[in-house]
Amino acid sequence: MEQHKVLIVDFGSQYTQLIARRVRELGVYSEIHPCTTPVPVLAAMRPAAIILSGGPASVNVPHAPTIDPMVFALGVPVLGICYGMQLMAKLLGGAVEPSTDREYGRTELTIAAPIPLWQGIDEPRLTVWMSHGDTVLHTPPGFVATASTPAVAIAAMACPQRGLYAVQFHPEVAHTERGVDMLRNFLFEVAHLAPTWSMASFVEETIRQARERIGDAQVVCGLSGGIDSTVAAVLLSRAIGKRLHCIFVDNGLLRAGEREEVIGYLQRHFDLNLHCIQAQEVFLSRLAGVEDPEQKRKIIGHTFIEVFEAEARRIDGVRFLAQGTLYPDVIESVSFKGPSAVIKSHHNVGGLPETMALELVEPLRELFKDEVRKVAQELGLPDALIWRHPFPGPGLAIRIIGEVTRERLEILRQADRIVQHELSAAGWYTKVWQGFAVLLPLKTVGVMGDERTYEHVVAVRVVDSLDAMTADWTRLPSEILARISTRIINEVQGVNRVVYDISSKPPSTIEWE
Ligand code: XMP
Repeated sequence: MEQHKVLIVDFGSQYTQLIARRVRELGVYSEIHPCTTPVPVLAAMRPAAIILSGGPASVNVPHAPTIDPMVFALGVPVLGICYGMQLMAKLLGGAVEPSTDREYGRTELTIAAPIPLWQGIDEPRLTVWMSHGDTVLHTPPGFVATASTPAVAIAAMACPQRGLYAVQFHPEVAHTERGVDMLRNFLFEVAHLAPTWSMASFVEETIRQARERIGDAQVVCGLSGGIDSTVAAVLLSRAIGKRLHCIFVDNGLLRAGEREEVIGYLQRHFDLNLHCIQAQEVFLSRLAGVEDPEQKRKIIGHTFIEVFEAEARRIDGVRFLAQGTLYPDVIESVSFKGPSAVIKSHHNVGGLPETMALELVEPLRELFKDEVRKVAQELGLPDALIWRHPFPGPGLAIRIIGEVTRERLEILRQADRIVQHELSAAGWYTKVWQGFAVLLPLKTVGVMGDERTYEHVVAVRVVDSLDAMTADWTRLPSEILARISTRIINEVQGVNRVVYDISSKPPSTIEWE
């Protein structure tokens, strides 16, 4: 059988996932494995090529992550990137020393030798992205220097006869000119792969792996209605059918119509094994009188775990907890991929695996958000679900400033529904990152007819963002803002004033809390 798999050996770089993503975008299947994986195990996976990632360490410090040099003798092309290059140099007999001139960020690369990695790249100089403190001073025997920068003579090296290539810079980051072409050359000119991989094969492969790992055990999965947990659930249900138990907790803090839209839809179209838990009472009673946002989050988090766990314990033979964790949720530490990776607490049902001794299944943990959307399309999920705005786990509770009561929830739901509706009607819903209403804990004076009123203020927040790390307020056309405001004031009883939030993140956040 032809071999189509690229193994990426992770030495802890923040860009390892990006390498995997670029390889996927080029149509080749790739897997990331920690650098502690023994080389015979890597070899048994029959890779067509191996990429050694960057990493934060220096190859010369004691206990620096390393790899058995046998990896260079497997007869498989190897590309070393940054730390991967230094390791290749050191292990094969070159010399690596701390640089006198450290290079971080952009620098100019001059290509020095015609090798397959540079095929089709004619520019005499390229801007590339560097991030390193060490430099290769001498190439190993049999290697030639293939590029330089103003600060380092050996910014890339190769031994084409053995299929060994290395670059000191990061071809995977967008700031590196022709970086994608270099990776393409490695895959197609050096390793002679064919671009046959697609999201369809990701779905197939994920289902196969899940079946293999889960066996005949039962799996629980928290379904929030957001795209990540929905895609994870639909994928896994394809793998193990009704042995996937999707638990949807109605915490009373959902948007208007949310339960019907999302859960009803999934029930009708995907035949999921759904456990719908009505827990509004317990959540709302515990939130009574609580104003502090952190306190609210804690109460909601704990109550969620309690309700979820109670339901999970009712199911016999549960061994796994499935989650829609994405790559950006996995905070990259120097630790390598594996159980030690830290996960943002608000994105998972933290606590459960420990108390119930469940193993985690995270079919999406290698993917970025836009890739999950592609998987969703592949699975046949509807656009309305694929493009839904992010909605926080603690729901409307963090959009009601101050105490959460049924009356305030109802006001916010109605106002929020109008925001959603008007954004969609004007064709702006899919253009923005997120849009919603917030209920403020104050009343102001107004007039309606001849009467003086004293009622709530609603803030409207609409932001543009790429990843929620930074965001800017959306410059919505004033007619849309006008419609939103008029409708909220006319239709939502108890509101007489609407304001638009014009703060960016940072220093503000997206949610008000
Ligand atoms: P902030 O307010 O920190 O929000 O700028 C960044 C993004 O995260 C979402 N968010 C949450 N998502 N659970 C979630 O699943 C939460 O507790 C939570 N808090 C904020 C927020 O909606 C925005 O998209």
